[in-house]
Amino acid sequence: KKIALVTGGFSGEAEVSYKSAVTVENNIDRSRYEVYKIDINPEGWFYLPATGEKSPVNKADFTITHNGATVKFDAVLMCIHGTPGEDGKLQGYFDMLKLPYTCCDAATSALTFNKRYTVAVAAFGGINVAKSVLLIKGRMDKQEEAAQLRFPVFVKPNNGGSSIGMSKVSAKEELPAAIEKAFKEDTQVLVEEFIQGREFTIGVFRTKGEIITLPMTEIRTQNDFFDYKAKYLGQSEEITPAVVEEAKAEQIREAARNIYSLLNCKGVVRIDFIYNEAAGVPFMLEVNTVPGQSDASLIPQQVKAMGRTLTDFYTDVIEEAFL
Ligand code: DAL
Ligand code: MG
Repeated sequence: KKIALVTGGFSGEAEVSYKSAVTVENNIDRSRYEVYKIDINPEGWFYLPATGEKSPVNKADFTITHNGATVKFDAVLMCIHGTPGEDGKLQGYFDMLKLPYTCCDAATSALTFNKRYTVAVAAFGGINVAKSVLLIKGRMDKQEEAAQLRFPVFVKPNNGGSSIGMSKVSAKEELPAAIEKAFKEDTQVLVEEFIQGREFTIGVFRTKGEIITLPMTEIRTQNDFFDYKAKYLGQSEEITPAVVEEAKAEQIREAARNIYSLLNCKGVVRIDFIYNEAAGVPFMLEVNTVPGQSDASLIPQQVKAMGRTLTDFYTDVIEEAFL
């Protein structure tokens, strides 16, 4: 089968995406799949052959020319974090072309890429979430409402990833600067109450009709929160599998499976939680529908902790795209 490994993207997460693509390239089963790397970036859409010149992708049907022949793909392995690979845009395009892909469909991708919508739908499904206020550029009344939240709060671009543009704010006076910083990344900003507790993140995927959770990771960081540096420059401690009481672990796994099913997810997603001791329940932070696969990323660690190879895991994920 011919697989388009789609990487790049239009956001600050492009550099993570290129690293994710390298992990996939190094681990995908070459006896099953022919892999073609496609880079979608602000300059254009290009096929990047292992050797030789890059060449443009035909956007009318997502074909490429390789050694003088037209290549039509059987499926897309999505490796773009952020827009346009995680927010439903490319999913809609691939749907139009009837081309299978390895991640959530257009509707679920668009929903989960919006942090505010995700917590609203999760809450509707009985999942615990933090209290939050969505700010929209030019609407000052909402900023007043946000200032009424219980501090500390997190201020984040509503549609983004890898903690880019995000701040933790302890005092009201610091709120405007944090909001301004987040508005540089997005036209919507989410201000969310901080939930006390240990942070866990867990991969979830579906294979042969069954929703399966990967061993979860506990995140501990010396930084103020799990920010970009903590994520990718090693400034955090990531414990996989997390050392946590079985009953709590099962609460998190159950919430993760429920969210996966509630949001009609597909492929591997990674869901972030805070376990609050006082409430005795996990709170969902967000759903990442194209989670990082870089060396520093968590899904590869979780797959290894499960005792599986990334090669087998990517095969499962790709085969699921055809169902
Ligand atoms: N947004 C990054 C890539 C992640 O979820 O792993
Ligand atoms: Mg994220």
